[in-house]
Amino acid sequence: MTLDQKIGQMTQPERMHVSPSEVKRYHIGSVLSGGGSCPGDNRPVDWVAMNDAYWSASMEEDDDHLAIPVLYGVDAIHGNANVLGATIFPHNIGLGAAGDPELIERIGRITAREVRAAGVDWTFAPTLAVAQDPRWGRTYESYSEDPGVVGEYAGRIVRGLQGGGVVGAGGVGDFVGLGPEGILACAKHWVGDGGTRDGVDQGDTVVDEEELRRVHIAPYVPALEAGAMTVMVSLSSWNGEKCHAHRYLIQDVLKGEMGFGGFVVSDWNGLDPLAEDYGDAVAMAVNAGIDMVMVPEAWKAFIAALRERVERGDVPVERIDDAVERILRVKFVSGLFERGRPWGRRGANGSSFGSREHREVAREAVRKSLVLLKNEGGVLPLDKGARILVTGRGAHDRGRLCGGFTVEWQGVLGNDRIEGGTSVWEGIEAVAPGAVLGGVGGSWDVEGVGEEEGVGGTQGEGEEGDFDVAVVVIGERPYAEGLGDIREESPVRPGTNHLPAGAGVLKPYGDTLELAALHPEDLATIRGLSGRGIPVVAVLVSGRPLVVDEELAASAGFVVAWLPGSEGGGVADVLFGDFDFVGRLGMGWVGGEVLFPWGYGLRLLGSEV
Ligand code: GLC
Repeated sequence: MTLDQKIGQMTQPERMHVSPSEVKRYHIGSVLSGGGSCPGDNRPVDWVAMNDAYWSASMEEDDDHLAIPVLYGVDAIHGNANVLGATIFPHNIGLGAAGDPELIERIGRITAREVRAAGVDWTFAPTLAVAQDPRWGRTYESYSEDPGVVGEYAGRIVRGLQGGGVVGAGGVGDFVGLGPEGILACAKHWVGDGGTRDGVDQGDTVVDEEELRRVHIAPYVPALEAGAMTVMVSLSSWNGEKCHAHRYLIQDVLKGEMGFGGFVVSDWNGLDPLAEDYGDAVAMAVNAGIDMVMVPEAWKAFIAALRERVERGDVPVERIDDAVERILRVKFVSGLFERGRPWGRRGANGSSFGSREHREVAREAVRKSLVLLKNEGGVLPLDKGARILVTGRGAHDRGRLCGGFTVEWQGVLGNDRIEGGTSVWEGIEAVAPGAVLGGVGGSWDVEGVGEEEGVGGTQGEGEEGDFDVAVVVIGERPYAEGLGDIREESPVRPGTNHLPAGAGVLKPYGDTLELAALHPEDLATIRGLSGRGIPVVAVLVSGRPLVVDEELAASAGFVVAWLPGSEGGGVADVLFGDFDFVGRLGMGWVGGEVLFPWGYGLRLLGSEV
């Protein structure tokens, strides 16, 4: 291979900035979709067509180009949720509350099927973050604050995604290839992403090495043992040193001590903050052990800079050869050379995409993820014959239930773009003939509690006092990454976090975890109804524990639903007692006067789970 061909394999542009002909001309090894970056009408067939074009170009061998299949990567972190009509699972924080590793493996297998249906072979999942501070905007991507729970899930989700056909001998890379429906997993973000000071996204994790190993590195061991063949580096720092330039963590610990035999990919523009001079940054990252560089737009500059640094001797050719050997090993071992073009592959445009069978598993996951914090006077389970008012901004809004990394990077609101799923209202309406969807900001909400972003419901009949009980769905709107942080506003480097270069300032979600301050309309709605003598069951849709002392006090029942995904009907299954609560908090409920410890959760009859 020529130096250009080798450097090309190490380069990962974003689909909007590279054409199939450029993939061939520059020998590109991988292309990605950033969150929400979707081809055509964003149906599986459009994705297969796109991948077929890239793959075919990469395989057109000639005097200048070797036929090496390009590898396409997406963030299928809770189902293939970019794509319209996909089965969308609860985000990891809810799955952690479910406490069911076997379920996680089934979710991995289904996710792999729906990713393969789009002609894609690689997902940037699982996130193995061990979130320590709920102010972090990516808390919902973490299974738990406990490294033991994350580690218990890590091996299962990797086996689920990769099809169980891969056996890693302690991470030494003794891979036996993917299962017939498997896709490549990517353990991320290496390392300590969930431990940054004050939960600031891409911030600094200030811990000693013992804690870094015990809390943040530990879950990677089962992931590598299960055969994870790619690892993504964290945009955060450890004790002030950027992970993307951390030779000890990448080269010595991950590849040396832990024997990781696959390849390490950088995160989005992760080289940019490393040094003022881009060439210096490139040399630092590649010499630290990064094998493939996710450089969405300025990938030609990356290629030029790396070539120059190799020619200057700043980056040894041996390092380049090691990186390319790792990339090719993964492509060979994963069967990418044998899979053939995307159009003809097993599972492409697969009919199981978004199927009822898949959605049933997602609905099971919703049921198992729900955590019951309060059930005063036995308000739960609900009676299917009761007069039930269902209201609140999340009552009939499937987009809100899905959270970030869903169709768009920051997620979507409303129901239009979450096809095939069920909202909380739709789950209740299906079994309770006396249920009524209260308008958002309608007559049954407290006056003046209009909501610009909610989904208006049908006005109920009858008088306001007719209801036996009200289900009020409250909580956060969708967000992703730093835009979900709880902190003071602060400028960040333009161009990171998918933000357009001109963005400049990364606006966080808010500056407090108090729901009553973030969304006062929720408490107003609850109080407005309970004040009329209607007992309220509050259902909290959020990516993390929030301070909800006042909402709890004003409610008879309180259910934490996390970010349940497309199958919101699973909430109704438990509210009516068809299934009991089994969920337990994967993070301690902190911040207010009312605290619930890690592992807390009630059953319908009042005992702790
Ligand atoms: C993002 C995230 C990472 C994701 C990548 C590609 O910035 O940090 O988790 O896989 O970019 O979208």
